[in-house]
Amino acid sequence: MTSVSSAPPEVAENIMRLQAYVPGKPAEEVQRELGIASIVKLASNENPLGPSPKAQEAVRLLLSRMNIYPDGSAHELRTALAKSLDVDPACLVFGNGSDDIIHLLGVTFLEPGDTVLQSDPSFVRYEAAAILNQVECVEVTCTPSWECDLDAMMAKMDASTRLVFLANPNNPTGTAIKSAELQRFVEALPQRVILVLDEAYYEYARDFDWYPNAVKWVNEGRNVVILRTFSKAYGLAGLRVGYGIMRPEVAQWLERTREPFNVNMLAQAAAVAALNDTEFLALTLNTNRQGLAMIGDALVALGLEYVPSYGNFLFINVGFDGKTAAEMLLKMGVIVRYSPHFKGPTWIRVTVGTADENERFLESLKEVLAAVAKG
Ligand SMILES: Cc1ncc(COP(=O)(O)O)c(C=O)c1O
Repeated sequence: MTSVSSAPPEVAENIMRLQAYVPGKPAEEVQRELGIASIVKLASNENPLGPSPKAQEAVRLLLSRMNIYPDGSAHELRTALAKSLDVDPACLVFGNGSDDIIHLLGVTFLEPGDTVLQSDPSFVRYEAAAILNQVECVEVTCTPSWECDLDAMMAKMDASTRLVFLANPNNPTGTAIKSAELQRFVEALPQRVILVLDEAYYEYARDFDWYPNAVKWVNEGRNVVILRTFSKAYGLAGLRVGYGIMRPEVAQWLERTREPFNVNMLAQAAAVAALNDTEFLALTLNTNRQGLAMIGDALVALGLEYVPSYGNFLFINVGFDGKTAAEMLLKMGVIVRYSPHFKGPTWIRVTVGTADENERFLESLKEVLAAVAKG
């Protein structure tokens, strides 16, 4: 009889250091586990209004064509986006979510001895790209008011720095970097550095007159890569489509490392339709603005500290262990986010929902605070 080895296959040290991504719990899972019929998921910064109706229709029209490979160059989406952004179509690289582009940037540009630089806390996938490619991720602690400390980041740059990640607005804090400050940073970047401006929450912030026009830096020929996504304001997180804007000289390298059909056919069509659904986008932004104000006012009334947000979520100091708070809320059917990566043990991140969802979160939070006060 041949014996079967039960030992897991060995992997390289950097793969052992990687952590599997822990997503926000799906509502169905909480429903199953707790037997609560109505669950409110405010954990993954999704659009509470669902997908754009025009995107839904575009997907329906394609269902009978799913036997065909998608267009690997995403021609229609590329043309539509290039026009709306006023950039050369060759400036765009599409990904299976912007996560995919973060991964591709790491695979394409990181070599042994390089380092990645990021503000801390920020989106966890930047560090993952560093570890995967066997380079160090240097984290620069944000200011006490949770803003990116650009001066401290500049001071940390050296000859090894290759990729610098800045999320603007930042996840999980919701803070944003203003144009003048970022302009100074961009102008001072050493030649070898590629600055990745992750604008996953761009649509929520772009109407502020101080919000940077980063496309200008790409058009000037700088090594700036802007990341955007259809997962947030456009409501297509489940379809997975994001993109990078960069000069063609940078894009060409990512085109070599990208999987040929990394953005599926339904996602491409939905993204084109969503881009044209200005009514849905306006409703989304309006709902978010009202939700931010509603939750903010309630938090002030409760005496809880929070960070003014330029995204579709709020970073809140509940005043006691954030993990416990998230667990207590979960038991009441409200899914919010706590992570040790937040670097604030008493902080949670809550996505802005519909008015009803926000109300449910606030009522549950009040109950949690009352229970904790009682001891
Ligand atoms: C800052 C930031 N970047 C990128 C992403 C990834 O988005 P997606 O891969 O869905 O485009 C997220 C998602 O939460 C995010 O918060």
